[in-house]
Amino acid sequence: MNVLQRTLAVQVPCLKDSWLYRILPSVSHKPFESIDQGHVTHNWDEVGPDPNQLRWKPFEIPKPSQKKVDFVSGLHTLCGAGDIRSNNGLAVHIFLCNTSMENRCFYNSDGDFLIVPQKGKLLIYTEFGKMLVQPNEICVIQRGMRFSIDVFEETRGYILEVYGVHFELPDLGPIGANGLANPRDFLIPVAWYEDRQVPGGYTVINKYQGKLFAAKQLVSPFNVVAWHGNYTPYKYNLENFMVINSVAFDHADPSIFTVLTAKSVRPGVAIADFVIFPPRWGVADKTFRPPYYHRNCMSEFMGLIRGHYEAKQGGFLPGGGSLHSAMTPHGPDADCFEKASKAKLAPERIADGTMAFMFESSLNLAVTKWGLKTSNCLDENYYKCWEPLKSHFTPNSRKPAEFN
Ligand SMILES: [Fe+2]
Repeated sequence: MNVLQRTLAVQVPCLKDSWLYRILPSVSHKPFESIDQGHVTHNWDEVGPDPNQLRWKPFEIPKPSQKKVDFVSGLHTLCGAGDIRSNNGLAVHIFLCNTSMENRCFYNSDGDFLIVPQKGKLLIYTEFGKMLVQPNEICVIQRGMRFSIDVFEETRGYILEVYGVHFELPDLGPIGANGLANPRDFLIPVAWYEDRQVPGGYTVINKYQGKLFAAKQLVSPFNVVAWHGNYTPYKYNLENFMVINSVAFDHADPSIFTVLTAKSVRPGVAIADFVIFPPRWGVADKTFRPPYYHRNCMSEFMGLIRGHYEAKQGGFLPGGGSLHSAMTPHGPDADCFEKASKAKLAPERIADGTMAFMFESSLNLAVTKWGLKTSNCLDENYYKCWEPLKSHFTPNSRKPAEFN
């Protein structure tokens, strides 16, 4: 079912291509025709910009008794930025589905999908073979690759789409050769094919310049008997991430938690980073250990796969999300601040049973109408989690030092 091999594809900064040996070429199909867009969009001007901290309750999955929704019809664009036609930008989508794709596949002409299942596993048929991707694993399906997804229950997850650039491992700098996401832990499918006629027609759905199109053909597209190359889909289990952290005092920048990055042309500034906050030890002395309060130049979309994120005691739930935009202040809620301020700084486990993640971008993200209104999941009371914060400033509590 889940036959995979290891890949070096994510670490090789060179030309990426693959040769596919198929029973019939992909070109044997009827013309593509425009289809209903559903909630997929790249219109970043649907509603005006909003600099507020935004948080969403868990996005609701439709019940199969109400409406059968597969992975493609269950795509909802939440936010994004940039331009598809000039291959520069990103989108964050939420998928909410309850049914397998039946004689339907999808491919994206606009960019790569990094898929983060949160509820329910995905059996993904690709032209390169099959991958079973479960919550706490991620997969990347790159531009142009056709895939079809089987689901087994009401299923939810997040997608980071990047235009015109591919994900790669971050430069490790002084860390050296080993650490963070190691290349040995990325898996790719082995070739698998079906020689299957579909008399009623197999539907190939294409996202092209942000719009959806469909074409019929008479055979399954998963007719690749053999392939070779380094342009492939791949998956990664987040449990394999080797965490690096402060072991003395103070905070390291969250970039130490980067799994994959999609670089921009500006050094050190990514179109998007995929960052996780895995279970680990907290040992820093003389340090307020939760994430510090900050404002910064990045847009930070966060999601929660399972558990409880260390900086929020409640309200940030698995299957929900939050967005903190450029220079918008954010940080731990008031409960977290009080507890962490009084905590004894012994070594302690952090985030056991939890996996939070962040899609972080140097671009300014616009939120869609679905995100702000139609989803009906926006938490209007988010700002209140910081309202109880009070001053602890006591200027006379310490004698000033006479000498430095
Ligand atoms: Fe932040």
